[in-house]
Amino acid sequence: MTTFKHLRQRSGIVGTLMALILLTTAPGSVAQQSTTTTEREFIELQTSINAMMVAVVDWAAHEVWEAGYAETLTGRNWLTVKQYATQLLASGTLVSLGGTGPADMTWVQNPEWQRWSARMIRDTRDALVAIEAQDQPALLAAGERLVNTCEGCHEIFKPSSPTEGIMHVPHHDYGDPLAVQ
Ligand code: HEC
Repeated sequence: MTTFKHLRQRSGIVGTLMALILLTTAPGSVAQQSTTTTEREFIELQTSINAMMVAVVDWAAHEVWEAGYAETLTGRNWLTVKQYATQLLASGTLVSLGGTGPADMTWVQNPEWQRWSARMIRDTRDALVAIEAQDQPALLAAGERLVNTCEGCHEIFKPSSPTEGIMHVPHHDYGDPLAVQ
């Protein structure tokens, strides 16, 4: 017969065991998380906001702006700018999540950061709608709203020198992909 005392004893032992297991496995499970991708909702961004701003956001946005100002756009040009706008759209979510940069997690916890990320996503979606319709004036207008969004967020958050020292890279020194016929 299981007595109350018996139960208490058992749960005491179980509790102690559990605590021991947690204590001894906790550091291991953290280390495991960085290599296992199946036990979490998503894989954390493995790069920083600084690096992404330069390699993805800035890179893709310049092509969206170039297309807005281009004299003519061929079918191939529209396809090219669609790829860049899609990259920019996807990067909006990454910007809202933050990554490995020293200030990233502080920034993304600020509601103001989320508002500006949402604006970047909204402006880029507008650009994509214009691209689908091959409507260059609408693309230009969406691009202009996008510039204001970049600048608005930078005014509040961007330090005078980037946290990781990664700066804007001049675009496409190898030639303008939108010029391809
Ligand atoms: C949600 C806020 C936010 C938005 C929106 C945003 N940025 Fe940034 N950007 C930053 C922050 C913060 C940094 C500095 C990162 C660091 O120092 O770690 C940065 C850095 C940069 C840099 C590198 C630093 C430099 O001065 O050269 C470039 C280039 C850049 N952003 C371009 C853009 C462009 C283009 C857009 C719009 C299409 C944009 N950013 C939208 C917050 C934002």
